[in-house]
Amino acid sequence: MAQPVAQLSFVCAPLSRALSHLRRRPPSPPRFLCSASRRRKNVGVPKNVQIDPPAPQLTADQSPWEDFLVPHLAGNSRPAFPARYDRSAPPFLVLGVESSCDDTAAAVVRSDGTVLAERAVSQHALTEQWGGVVPHVARDAHERAIADVIDGALADAGLHAHELHAVAATMGPGLEVCLRVGYRAARDVARAHALDFVAVNHLEAHLLVARLPRPSAATTCPPPCGGDGDASAVQSLAQGAEQDPEMPRFPFLTLLVSGGHCQLLLVRGVADYAVLGGTLDDALGEAYDKTARLLGLRVGGGGGPALEKLATRGNPSAIPFPVPMAKRPDCNFSFAGLKTSVRTAIDRLGGDEAVRASDALTADVAASFQETAVRHLEQRVTRAIAVCAAAHPGEMDTLVVSGGVAANRVIRARLQGVCEKAGWNCVVPPVQLCTDNGVMVAWAGVERLRKGIADDTQNLDVRARWPLAGLDRLAMPVPPDVSLKEGA
Ligand code: KG4
Ligand code: ZN
Repeated sequence: MAQPVAQLSFVCAPLSRALSHLRRRPPSPPRFLCSASRRRKNVGVPKNVQIDPPAPQLTADQSPWEDFLVPHLAGNSRPAFPARYDRSAPPFLVLGVESSCDDTAAAVVRSDGTVLAERAVSQHALTEQWGGVVPHVARDAHERAIADVIDGALADAGLHAHELHAVAATMGPGLEVCLRVGYRAARDVARAHALDFVAVNHLEAHLLVARLPRPSAATTCPPPCGGDGDASAVQSLAQGAEQDPEMPRFPFLTLLVSGGHCQLLLVRGVADYAVLGGTLDDALGEAYDKTARLLGLRVGGGGGPALEKLATRGNPSAIPFPVPMAKRPDCNFSFAGLKTSVRTAIDRLGGDEAVRASDALTADVAASFQETAVRHLEQRVTRAIAVCAAAHPGEMDTLVVSGGVAANRVIRARLQGVCEKAGWNCVVPPVQLCTDNGVMVAWAGVERLRKGIADDTQNLDVRARWPLAGLDRLAMPVPPDVSLKEGA
């Protein structure tokens, strides 16, 4: 599900103009002022019904920096925001539902960061069988799984739906027919129990989950808490996200790398993003998946994990693939050329069969591919850090790496190294929260509710495309005179 980024038609803005836009923040919404005494069921969050506004048209002299709000949230007025979502209020409970691609997932998360329960059913076997995600096959699998996943998460949490405060569901981007399954199920729970509803952007959920308070070894989850295996690893009883000193604070830089996206974003706050760069062709996860297929690996669980595992046995310098766009002074990515280089190398080594028959050869190709992709990431992240440091002198010091590919241990370690060189912190969610999950959706719901954002299910529908800043079709002009000290 790559979302190619069209080439930008205009050239770099002058440094001062670009940086002043980068610094600019939208006016803050009015803070909550209403009475706390109203009963939960009767208090409606101000509804925001406009989820699909027309794409903003940029004129030739307009900078895309100005177009940074998540489109459907821009200008949302919230005259009376319920007290239960205020930071000083007792923790509230959100059910999160995810079905954007091939994972059906749900989780119950408390606003202090406690993961009460999570359930997930993956479609790995189907993906393996069909050689990828087939929309109607995936939709049918979501339909078979969704009720059990939601009911199971609630049961594990020891809750009845009426005890929740809100339901959050991924509304895009993703496969429409799949998104709709999760949305409808989540909406029905919300309507049946008069709960607030939050429409969650999948990309925002990936990056905001880095702010979920870390599990605290000192506390345990109150029974019944539910979850097993990976789920228990992410249960957290940290008392309040704000108290976690390692929680990334706004503004921070995010590298979002998943199966469909590869972006560098300046995150000013919830629903407040600027795109520093995006991929001109394939997403990084897609490049991993395609390369894994070229090497004949099993891709049911995504090609990335299989390729990462194989690469541990190979020599990363065996095949010196060119690092993409090494001479392009911006924050964009490209992986299509690397994939072609892999194809050419396999042909040179004797073709598919010869390479696949040799564990050493496949491992060398995998390791060399990964090394080149990682060097590309290192160069772009180094540049983006320089851009942010120039735009927010002394104010920014954190990189968040998010999305499914952030589960990759080599990428985590190497970007940690880039940050160390720059004197920045590198925050990466636990591996099990990098790939698609229900916790990130519920947590994005918490963050949005705290900001006074909720949605009216009356006129809502899912969206296959939902760029975070309306900018994924644009390449970001990077100030030409920001000095770049490449880490790699
Ligand atoms: O975020 P995600 O679960 O789904 C999307 O939103 O796309 O990301 C899935 C992508 C797949 O392309 C998968 O191959 C990749 O993330 N991925 C990895 C690893 N784990 C998942 N890529 C490289 N190394 C990994 N360990
Ligand atoms: Zn994802």
